[in-house]
Amino acid sequence: MRKNLVAGNWKMNMTLQDGLALVSEITNMVQDEVTGSDVQVVICPPFPFLSAIGKQLPEGGRFHLGAQNCHQKESGAYTGEVSARMLQSVGAEYVILGHSERRQYFREDNELLSQKLKAALAAGLKPIFCVGESLETREADDTFNFISQQLKEGLFHLSNEEFDQVVVAYEPIWAIGTGKTATSAQAQEVHAFIREQIARAYDAEAAENTTILYGGSANAQNARELFSQPDVDGGLIGGAALKSRDFTEIIKSF
Ligand code: G3P
Repeated sequence: MRKNLVAGNWKMNMTLQDGLALVSEITNMVQDEVTGSDVQVVICPPFPFLSAIGKQLPEGGRFHLGAQNCHQKESGAYTGEVSARMLQSVGAEYVILGHSERRQYFREDNELLSQKLKAALAAGLKPIFCVGESLETREADDTFNFISQQLKEGLFHLSNEEFDQVVVAYEPIWAIGTGKTATSAQAQEVHAFIREQIARAYDAEAAENTTILYGGSANAQNARELFSQPDVDGGLIGGAALKSRDFTEIIKSF
């Protein structure tokens, strides 16, 4: 179901002590300052922190725990890997899949991601499925074809019921960690395209009910403009999620 949502992707940063202090600051600020808004907040720490951070999130409220990845198998001899069931067992409700950094550094392709999506859904997790183009693709005016392929090969094999659990994140690679944010018009254009692709693959109701997040140098200064766009339902935040004041301001930006 579509909702206003802000997810913080901590990536590979901090120690557990730092993370616990950050979450304490964020939850206190949000509880004091965010009133009259139904915005949902997902905190996505590194694997080792999940259980302790999850225990620190206020129960039954707007805060939810998420992971940054999962393996495509349910269990087995995969040293160092983490399954979706394991994530669910420590309180995760969401899992980021297909982040461009995992596609780039760990060679995750759409076929593998389609398997990871199935594993996440089977474990009762809500996937945050990332799509987004490189600067080269954008400059070649091939953004829509590229994202359409990511959606069709990675996501559109799901049933209507499965798809209803999915959050989509548009993260232009050229905006991630660069300080070069997409303009609100650029974000809206691609978000509207994604919603149109969903309507074609499923139906208008599924498209209207899908939460589509923007990620890529979103911050306390630009979030309100981005989130004011009709097809931008919130953000998937990296660097700014590591600063309690900035992340809280983003959460307040609806
Ligand atoms: O997953 C969100 C992340 O890729 C965006 O990073 O630092 O540009 O907000 P950042």
